[in-house]
Amino acid sequence: MRRAKISVIGAGNVGATTAHWCAAAELGDIVLLDIPATEGMPAGKALDLFQASPIVGFDSRLTGTTDWADTAGSDVVVVTAGIARKPGMSRDDLLSTNARIVGDVAERIRQSSPEAIVIVVSNPLDAMVQRTFQVTGFPPQRVIGQAGILDTARYRAFLALELGVSVEDISAMLLGGHGDTMVPVPSCTSVGGIPVTQLISTARLDAIVDRARNGGAEIVGLLKTGSAYYAPAAATAQMVEAVVRDKKRLVPCAAYCRDEYGVGGYFVGVPVVLGAAGVERIIELQLLPAERAALDKSIAAVKDLVAAMNRLTGTT
Ligand code: NAI
Ligand code: 2OP
Repeated sequence: MRRAKISVIGAGNVGATTAHWCAAAELGDIVLLDIPATEGMPAGKALDLFQASPIVGFDSRLTGTTDWADTAGSDVVVVTAGIARKPGMSRDDLLSTNARIVGDVAERIRQSSPEAIVIVVSNPLDAMVQRTFQVTGFPPQRVIGQAGILDTARYRAFLALELGVSVEDISAMLLGGHGDTMVPVPSCTSVGGIPVTQLISTARLDAIVDRARNGGAEIVGLLKTGSAYYAPAAATAQMVEAVVRDKKRLVPCAAYCRDEYGVGGYFVGVPVVLGAAGVERIIELQLLPAERAALDKSIAAVKDLVAAMNRLTGTT
């Protein structure tokens, strides 16, 4: 059986860790690409990871490169290229640098892997996934942003800590933009099938949502030299797995919404069914008035961010 070809663009913290999770789960053969200035680094990381395979017992080939030709014909391309946050920076501070980098990367993907499903991770996520869509011209179901699985995982982890139960028993859904404007949906949060509102006060739930919303900044503050990568990479690998194994996972992702939720042609975090074709379905939830208002605010923030990016890139 032919193994899937997965290219990870940007061999930094998130990229290399995504390659690690994907290889360990035998999701396919992996190409790790970085810029020529990093010469040797992606090859070194790929070789090191490959040398772990006899110990861990996975059959994935790993190649590290600075040559786009090595990525040709990829089934899935993960975009982690760009700069990451340092203390005091918001995700939006990355906009101009990463819009240029992600635009260049998207053009390379268009040329080298025209049939790929592209999973964008670079920040500010909601704008970078739109930029990738603009430049590749790929059908919208083949361009997807990673944010919701990470934000939901943080929320689930904090809830498990609060309630003293296994993380496996927490099921949750968040909508909207990445992080700061994300919208929790308490009616879609349950613990072992029990609605979370029966187990926790509104005030505690609000505090937990707030910690999840600031989860990225909390890690930046602790690391001081960069941003989170273990959980972001695990979230990304879960998306890769959903695609290459056609899992039909129902997870929150940044997906292109035209009529859905009245968004009008932007990428927003929504529940999707993720499978071999990419975003195979967008689920429209019935929201309470307060949830709808919060989602509208988040959509407005995404539109402002994209407008700022379009001004920078001269996109009309
Ligand atoms: P990093 O600095 O460790 O790695 C970024 C890598 O991209 C570097 O090795 C750099 O050389 C490479 N790069 C730059 N320009 C490139 C190009 N044109 N082609 C190929 N590679 C290029 O940063 P880290 O921590 O891996 O984060 C990567 C991005 O992911 C950042 O923008 C960060 O904010 C974002 N991120 C997004 C998350 C999400 O949930 N969406 C979560 C965590 C990080
Ligand atoms: C995070 O949420 C920085 O977006 C990144 O950790």
